Amino acid sequence: MTTISTALRDKTTNLGAGPSTLPTEVLLEAAQGIVDYKGTGMGITELSHRSSTFKQLLTQAEDDLRALLDVPDEYAVLFMQGGGTEQFSATLLNMLAVHAARNPGAREAPPVDYVVSGAWSAKALKEAKRLTPRVNVACDIRSAICDPDAHIPEPASWSLSEAPAMLYYCDNETIDGFEFPHDFVARLPASYRAQVPIVADCSSNVLSRPIDVRAHAALFFGAQKNIGPSGVTVVIVRRELVVDPDAVRTPYPPVIPTTLVYKNAMDNGSLYNTPPMFPLYVSALVFAKLRKDGGVAGAQKRALEKSSAVYNALAAHPKRFRPTVAHPAFRSKMNITFRILDEHTGEPSEEAETQFIKLCGEHRIEQVAGHRSVGGLRTSLYNASTLEQAHTLAALLTQFAG
Ligand SMILES: Cc1ncc(COP(=O)(O)O)c(C=O)c1O
Repeated sequence: MTTISTALRDKTTNLGAGPSTLPTEVLLEAAQGIVDYKGTGMGITELSHRSSTFKQLLTQAEDDLRALLDVPDEYAVLFMQGGGTEQFSATLLNMLAVHAARNPGAREAPPVDYVVSGAWSAKALKEAKRLTPRVNVACDIRSAICDPDAHIPEPASWSLSEAPAMLYYCDNETIDGFEFPHDFVARLPASYRAQVPIVADCSSNVLSRPIDVRAHAALFFGAQKNIGPSGVTVVIVRRELVVDPDAVRTPYPPVIPTTLVYKNAMDNGSLYNTPPMFPLYVSALVFAKLRKDGGVAGAQKRALEKSSAVYNALAAHPKRFRPTVAHPAFRSKMNITFRILDEHTGEPSEEAETQFIKLCGEHRIEQVAGHRSVGGLRTSLYNASTLEQAHTLAALLTQFAG
């Protein structure tokens, strides 16, 4: 009989950017549930997804998520698949369908506005360019992010289109360590906000701080950071913006694949086809735990404490460490990205970074290398990481700086 040991896990600090650490108590409960879910004699992944047992789980997960994020009734919560990447396509196609439904005489596709703040919004932009002809970059702040002398332009000065089908942005750029200050995007001109559906990718900071759902047409997030195993992607969308794309009589958008149509997910209670049952189960357990642990306000307080411990350690040694986001107000509370500098030249040193990663390994601090596309270091302090772990990392940074 296999027994589950957490001995090594308890000594390990997993700072991976996603898939990432999850609460041990949740995983242990899930380990039981995958063998025998609540005394049914069957594992959760062995039950019919249409059974009342599984439907109850799904309903509870939705209720808990609604409570955590203060989701109003006018919004549908959809549990989908395909990851954030699939939502790059789905958000656009569904919002083009909304535009088409509202403009039945239109002959050409409307513009869509994109805010580019890092690698993930750039990927969404790339997908948009594949799918529709009129993609406008409302602002590209990637170079300003790393430049302390550059100014991050206020939303009122972005180059916004006339009546676009949507504005898209990524609230937290997991690779670049950039996070919009709370409500930054809501500073868009009021007339624009009133007309234009605003869509946010909240994959890597959802449940770490409150988000004004009402200010958005749709939000989405993959589970594999603050929620659960990869496989579930949550979409929260204003119900009045959920349309049947097949009833639209304009030359755009293209026909939307069935599984990407929000209306299909909404009308079928997220059970149009077989859902990812295990990731949903773990997500449900995480939602319930977070409600007990002080909700999003509690998570936000902890995220501030943890990230401050690490940012303060970096700031104490400016000759050794350089956060890659130059503007403190835009530094992510979830993904702390930084370079280690050569003591003599003051330039990023891959050799010193390799040494630090090795030192982390000796202290069982894992998954701290930066994304392969940008290098440097990235330490992710998602909800399941602890303050103690953040302090351990901060102490190691201080030790390394000498
Ligand atoms: C902010 C953000 N958006 C989108 C994605 C893409 O998610 P997926 O790999 O699940 O498609 C990621 C992945 O890490 C992400 O961090």
